[in-house]
Amino acid sequence: MAGKTALVTGAAGFIGSHLVDRLISDGYMVVGIDDLSSGKLENLPAEFDLRKMDIRDRELRSVIAEIRPDTVFHLAAQMSVSVSAKEPMLDADVNIGGSLNLLEGIRALGDNVARFVHFSSGGMVYGEPSVLPADESTPPRPLSPYGASKLATETYLPIYERLCGLQYSIVRLGNVYGPRQDPHGEAGVVAIFTKAMLTGKPLTIFGDGNDERDYVYVADVVDAVIMAADSGKPGPFNVATGIGTNPNRIFQLVAGFCNYSEKAVYGPPRPGDVNRIFLDVAKAKAELGWTPQVSLEDGLKTTVEWFKRQCN
Ligand SMILES: NC(=O)c1ccc[n+]([C@@H]2O[C@H](COP(=O)([O-])OP(=O)(O)OC[C@H]3O[C@@H](n4cnc5c(N)ncnc54)[C@H](O)[C@@H]3O)[C@@H](O)[C@H]2O)c1
Repeated sequence: MAGKTALVTGAAGFIGSHLVDRLISDGYMVVGIDDLSSGKLENLPAEFDLRKMDIRDRELRSVIAEIRPDTVFHLAAQMSVSVSAKEPMLDADVNIGGSLNLLEGIRALGDNVARFVHFSSGGMVYGEPSVLPADESTPPRPLSPYGASKLATETYLPIYERLCGLQYSIVRLGNVYGPRQDPHGEAGVVAIFTKAMLTGKPLTIFGDGNDERDYVYVADVVDAVIMAADSGKPGPFNVATGIGTNPNRIFQLVAGFCNYSEKAVYGPPRPGDVNRIFLDVAKAKAELGWTPQVSLEDGLKTTVEWFKRQCN
């Protein structure tokens, strides 16, 4: 792998910045794209080559032509379910239009077309399947425009394989958590709970707190993504744990690590949220040799310790 070049969109974000660290330590030359709408420069190593840019900007294609990446990891996205419900055209513009802009830049590389890894969402593309854990053969039935735009980009990839020989991998992530997750977003319940508990702020659980998601630690996700890219296999691959956990349990565990004794406040459920989803990860195990290594308790403990250092 040494000497290879990677382009990471969404590099300054939560998962992107962990991926950047790993790629650099694996010997990649890494260039990042990020408009810094939610990502932060402090997530990135000093002197990192970040091009501040929207993925919809045509200038992105010039960057691809300039650096001629071997692999493109595509993370930059509009990823708010509620924004997608209010503004589906904006969501599609960023998540489908931005992805196509990137793919057109890759196609223009001609014979040296880059490998492409698409970060999709297992929590969003399946909707609420009747059989759980959901494996990759579950018919996708997204409940939000965000889920639909993630799925739409998936469907373009085999077409680009025909158009230009694109080699791609699709990873469908569970609910990722870990250090650097933005506590101001709407998705990162672990980050939101931890930050609120450490700063003594009130916090709300939407719904009754019994809905279930599949929480996967960010280092496990980075491992899976690199293995998927190296495999050249298209997937899609669920990247999760196979275990459903509800927000009440997350609240209890994080409260224990934070020494927080207040009770949770419950609010109305949010439109577009999925009630119960966890993902079968047998395919990633069989085809990539990947299994998650970090238990929920260990991952939460490490995450809380990181947030404590930020608060000091
Ligand atoms: N975090 C999760 O639980 C989760 C679950 C499933 C899928 N995903 C996917 O993984 C990817 C990364 O998620 P994350 O949690 O690191 O999110 P994040 O918000 O921390 O990172 C996204 C990054 O993309 C940048 N960005 C947003 N819009 C952009 C645009 N138009 N042009 C350029 N940059 C832009 C943001 O500034 C941010 O740095 C996303 O594609 C998301 O849909 C995440």
